[in-house]
Amino acid sequence: MKTIRDYIRTIPDFPHEGIMFRDVTTLFSDARGFRMAIDQLLHPYAGTPIDKVVGLEARGFILGGAIAHQLSVGFVPIRKKGKLPGKTIEQAYQLEYGEAVMELHDDALQPGDKVLLVDDLLATGGTAEAGIRLVERLGAQVMGCAFIIDLPALGGAARLEKLGMQVHSLCA
Ligand code: PRP
Ligand code: ADE
Repeated sequence: MKTIRDYIRTIPDFPHEGIMFRDVTTLFSDARGFRMAIDQLLHPYAGTPIDKVVGLEARGFILGGAIAHQLSVGFVPIRKKGKLPGKTIEQAYQLEYGEAVMELHDDALQPGDKVLLVDDLLATGGTAEAGIRLVERLGAQVMGCAFIIDLPALGGAARLEKLGMQVHSLCA
């Protein structure tokens, strides 16, 4: 039987030389693979109260939407600067290959909301940390951070665990 890892391909030198880009479009486009990924991402949170799923742009939207639907809770996007139309709070962060700013609508979460944070991949953890900070700045609580892929050599999981986060990933 195919595992999640079998559905993901690696494209060398994208978007820059030296980056081994993990491409999850091949996982998402496969009915079995996509369902398996959503089921496995959700598995550890059975019994955990979750009010909102927060997805990180862009592939976190695809996963987060499906997970929110499965949990019958709302979905909230965290987007790159300049994409959200309402009043936002923002957080700068470093990427494996660059620098950026993430935004969250300032009314998207209520104090005390319990949040599951979702993205396709954890590398340095800079993107996820920016997401956690945005969620916490609105007074909400991150119950867990779920990823398809963790690249442990880049230290993201250790970085998030130092912030007190529970990190769940499906493959390396
Ligand atoms: C990728 C990935 C994560 C982030 C992880 O997104 O989907 O969001 O990088 O890297 P980090 O752990 O080092 O922060 P990318 O920045 O390529 O943006 P995109 O999803 O909008 O293409
Ligand atoms: N984001 C940061 N590093 C990445 C990688 N190696 N593959 C896909 N997305 C990434």
